[in-house]
Parts: sequence; structure tokens; C-alpha cells
Amino acid sequence: MNTEYLFPAMTVGVCYYPEHWDKSLWEEDLRRMLDSGITVVRIAEFAWSLFERTEGVFTLDYFDPFLDLCEKMGMKVIFGTPTATPPAWLTEKYPETLNCDITGVKYRHGMRRHYNYNSPVYWEKCEIIIGKIARHYGNHPAIIGWQIDNELNCETDEFYSEADSAAFRMWLKERYGTLDKLNDAWGTVFWSQTYTDWAQIFVPRPAPHAAYNPHLHLDYLRFVSRSCLDFCAMQAKILRAHISPDAFITTNGMFGHMDNHAMTRNSLDLYTYDSYPNFAFGLDVKDIEHNLLRDRWSGMKLTEVRSICPHFGIMEQQSGAGSWTSRMDNPMPRPGQMTLWALQSVAHGADFVSFFRWRTCTFGTEIYWHGILGYDNRDNRRMGELRDFAAKMKKLAPVCGADYAADVALVRDYDNIYDSELDNWHRRVTRQSEDALFEASQLHHTPMDMLYLQPYTSLEDLKKYKALFMPHASIMTGEKAGLLESYVRQGGVLIVGCRSGYKDEHGRCVMEPQPGLLKKLTATDVMEYTLASPAEEEPYAIWNGRRMPMPVFNDVLTPLKGAQVLARFGSSYYAGEPALTEHHVGEGRVLHLGGALSREAAAMILEHLGLLEPFAPVVSAPQEVELALREKDAEKVLFALNYQNKAMTITLHQAAQSLFDGRTMQGDVVLAPYEVQVFRL
Ligand code: GAL
Repeated sequence: MNTEYLFPAMTVGVCYYPEHWDKSLWEEDLRRMLDSGITVVRIAEFAWSLFERTEGVFTLDYFDPFLDLCEKMGMKVIFGTPTATPPAWLTEKYPETLNCDITGVKYRHGMRRHYNYNSPVYWEKCEIIIGKIARHYGNHPAIIGWQIDNELNCETDEFYSEADSAAFRMWLKERYGTLDKLNDAWGTVFWSQTYTDWAQIFVPRPAPHAAYNPHLHLDYLRFVSRSCLDFCAMQAKILRAHISPDAFITTNGMFGHMDNHAMTRNSLDLYTYDSYPNFAFGLDVKDIEHNLLRDRWSGMKLTEVRSICPHFGIMEQQSGAGSWTSRMDNPMPRPGQMTLWALQSVAHGADFVSFFRWRTCTFGTEIYWHGILGYDNRDNRRMGELRDFAAKMKKLAPVCGADYAADVALVRDYDNIYDSELDNWHRRVTRQSEDALFEASQLHHTPMDMLYLQPYTSLEDLKKYKALFMPHASIMTGEKAGLLESYVRQGGVLIVGCRSGYKDEHGRCVMEPQPGLLKKLTATDVMEYTLASPAEEEPYAIWNGRRMPMPVFNDVLTPLKGAQVLARFGSSYYAGEPALTEHHVGEGRVLHLGGALSREAAAMILEHLGLLEPFAPVVSAPQEVELALREKDAEKVLFALNYQNKAMTITLHQAAQSLFDGRTMQGDVVLAPYEVQVFRL
């Protein structure tokens, strides 16, 4: 494919459903879109029953007149495969294609994503319809790209059909070869779980306290990911065989229980994400702590997206209130927020932003999920913001293809993500530390990336960063430990926290002193560890006379030869014992924190490393304002985003030119409520 289209210019799009509207509206809609700066529409991703109303009877021409109109008017199109919404005839005739809840009850027709990835019949039906669509539309000149399915693993990322159990057994046979090996890996001698026939193995089924064998469950999540990736690869292969070589293949959204990185690498040309920051203002948001950053938490997701695809697209960007009739009660974005959130995506690496959706649907589950236009179709406030945003995107030309700049990264891998979902202790520390690091990075204007350790991750990937936080890699392998060691030896800084390195790839605990395979790097030993007791004050340590909260879990560290103690616990029965150590290895160093990160600890460690507030020489900003830098060659573009409903002042310590209005500014600059300014440095 022509990778030049990823994207040659900052591009604005919109999601459009021609089938929801009278055909007489199409031309006027396209004209209004083009007038307001939209150059791409995404269509067709739920339209299976239009293409195949009954089994084997195909009416593929429905979108022809729409696409011809697009071509005539100069609109580009991203075309979706319709596999998220199988038609009624299909699931009624072939109920084995349906996904089930954990009790085995089937999800029925009427919603979406109610199918399973492993039914051979579903694969066959998908292969047929995708082949037909790809052959029919694949070379239409208006189409620049294809979207596979819609939000793989959205609605649910758990699969419990009979087809899934059958496929799980096959996958396990390939993985382990013999039942003896499987029994050993899963420790089935515990509670008499030993399997003597493959037919005895199922995907998780109801159990008291939902307490399944954790090693089986870990493999189950890997299997769900594999199933999803295979399904995506099947679609990509068919599309590739028929569509124009210039068109890209993508999918949208970012959901759980799937290796989005491998999927993108294996099957896609471009990753696109659906960004809905307004969830942070929903009536159901109860987590007060999380409210600290509200819509800035979307930045955490965008950071993850960037780790998959550095210059990504947003296939669905929030434009209006987001609610279904049955769930999710979210208010209308305040004036300025639609633009703020779209620019949040751009600041984090998006070169393509497509709004969801053109006009609010007048029927169905999503009548309250507002698009740019309302039911009455009149120009409105959001239309004004769309025009303004599209004009801004033109001025952001220097940003296209520019990298988000960060010296610090959070390191993850899928095994530890899955394990932390299943293991209470692992989950608690991981959530605490990842959230705290993100909060510290946002509040202290210290850009952060994410780096996923994948089988193909190279030392060069790690060396892009001055410091890597890998807070709680409970599962550690020799390969990963070796890569981390090379990074440190060549000058990198690695920060690990409590609960590191005590499990093998099956999630079984190793009979080694903690932190296991990382011990050589940390030069520490952990003889004593505990969850923080709710009966005691929140644990803390003292570092250079400053108090550093050490929440959730504490490892009491014993420094070995070469390790220096930086901080000691100030609380509980281990007060006075080492809480943070530093060990120089080669050109670099390793910090071992005997706890989960608090916001304060993350900031203190970054300060210790000289990495906190890197923009300080150029600009000062209050905590309420996010700063981000995108750079390409000598071009450096700074974003200042005000998430508050009140004016905020930043101070430029050097002259900088606003990309939006061309003014050169220095000193105090007032950002209006929800305003974003972008400066060329
Ligand atoms: C997304 C989905 C869209 C639409 C939107 C609003 O998750 O991809 O099709 O449903 O949410 O609910």
C-alpha cells in the first residue's frame, strides 16, 4: 500500500451512515461537510443486512451511488467491514456463531458484537461477505482505506461459547503438546484439578467466587487475544487480495484481552482509536481520586495508542453528549471542549481526527449519542467548532508526522497486564503505580510514553528513553531481563517497584529470592513483604528528610553489594528499613522502590533523575494546563491545553510564535477556558 497516505496532511473526517438517512440528503450533507473542512468520511461498518438480506442473496450496490457522489465532489472514504453486526438470519440459523455469557447463555440478535471469533461457520460467512464487498468496492477511487470490523473486543472481551472451548483445546494442544505438560504448567495437582482428557478442558465456567485456576485463566486471556488477532488477520488477508494497493487497512478502538501491538504489526497499516473524553463527566463517575484529572485521563489511553502507532488516527472523536437510551449518562461537551479534546488527540500524536458522528441518529439505541448536528439538521454551536478546528488543523501542518517528545516511558507487557487482571495483589499495585506515574507526569509537565516489551522489541526501542519505569513486572523472563540489563549497561535508568520478578511465564511463583531474575540488576533481596494494613497509617518512607507515601504494598529491601540506600521506611514494623535503593550497572543505574508508586514518589524519583518539568526553561504552566511537544527534524511545536472552565496563565520564557494566529508571544499568556494554544519554538 501507499504508506504516504498515513497521513500526508493533517486531516479531518467524520463518521457517516448513508443508510440512516433519506438519499435526498446525501449530496447536501457532503457539501456541508466539505465546506466545514471535512475531507474523509467513514461508512458502512454495520451494514451487513443491506448487503446480504437473506443467506447467499447479495445486493452489493447500495453504496455505489454514495461513493460516486463522493468521487464527484472530492470526498475520500474509509469503508468498514460489517462483521460486528451479523444479520438476524445468520444468528438464527447458526446459533453456534453467538458468544455466550459465562453461564453459557447465548447473547442474541439485536445489539452488536454478539458473535464469537471461533465459530467455523462465522468465519466462513465473514470470508464470503468480506470477499464480496472487497471485490465490489475494493477499487473505487473514492476509497482511501478500510476499517476491519468495529472496535474489536468492545462490548465484551470475554468469550464463552462452545466454539471457544473447542478452539481453546486446540490452542492448548499446540502450546503444550501433552496433558502432562499442561497439568504441570497449571499446577493442577492443587485441588485435584488434574486433566486426563483434553475434552475435560473448557474456557472458564461458573465457579464459587469466580476463583478459577489462575494459570488456566492466564492462558485463556492469551487465547482470547490470539482468537481476535486471527480473526483480524483473516479479514486483512481477504481485503489485501482485492482492494487497491494504495488503500490502507486499519481498525478502530482499543480494548482489552488483545495484543493491539501484534495485531497492528501483523495485519494493519495504521491504528486508529476512538476517543471519548466526556466519559470523565458522566453521572456515573464516582471515583473522586480519578476526578483529579478528569478528561486528561484520555491522555493515558492516547499514550498507549502512541506506543502501538506513533502517528495514529482518531476514527471517532467525541463531538457531542454521549449516552445510549439504556446506559451512560454524559452531558453535552461545554463550548470549547470538543476542540480541546480533538487537539488533545493531536498533541498526543494524531494526524487524522474524524468526529463521531455527522448527524445524531433519530432512531435506535444511540439517539442521545450526539454528533455534530442535531436531529433538526440546523447549523449549531458544534458545527462552528468543527469549522474552527478544521481551520486550526490546516495551521498545524508542521505537526504532521512529528513525534511526541518524551524522555520517560512506562514499560508494560501483555503477560503482566493479563496477570494483573487476575491477581488481586498484582492488580492493586499496578493500578496504583501506573495511575500515579501518569498523574505525576501530567501535573509536573513531564511527557511520558509507553513502551511494550514484545518479542520483537529491540534495544534501540528502549534507548530512546532516559528512564524506564517497569513498576511491577511480576512475570519476568530471562529474555526480558536481558534486554533491560543491556539498556541499563548502556546508560539507561530502570525503576522497578515491589512485587517484581517472582513469577514465571505460567504465573507460577519461582523458588528464588525476590526480585528473581531482576536481582542482579537491583542488587537487592526481599526477605519481608506485606500488603499495607488498613489498621495502620498509610505507609511512607523518608527520602532526604522528605516524606514519600508508599501505598498499597511494601517490600522491605535488603541492599546487596553495590546498592545504595536512598530512602527508608518511616512506618509500620519495618520502620527504618530500606525502602528505595539505587544500583549503578555499567553506564546506567537501577532504582528499586519497595512499594507501589505514589504521585509524590514518582515526582521525587523524576526529580532525582533530573527529568522533572523538562519545559521549565521555556515555559511555566500551572498544574491544570497540560504541555506537550511534537518534533520533527528542527521543527518543535509546543501544545498548551487548558482543561479548566476558567482562564489559566502560562509564562513563556522565550519568544514563541502562535501557530494559530501567527502572533509572537513572550511572558504571560492567558488561555481562555478550554483554550489550546500551539507555539512554534
Ligand atoms: C463507539 C462505536 C460507535 C458508537 C459510539 C457511540 O464505541 O464504535 O459505533 O456506538 O461508540 O456509542
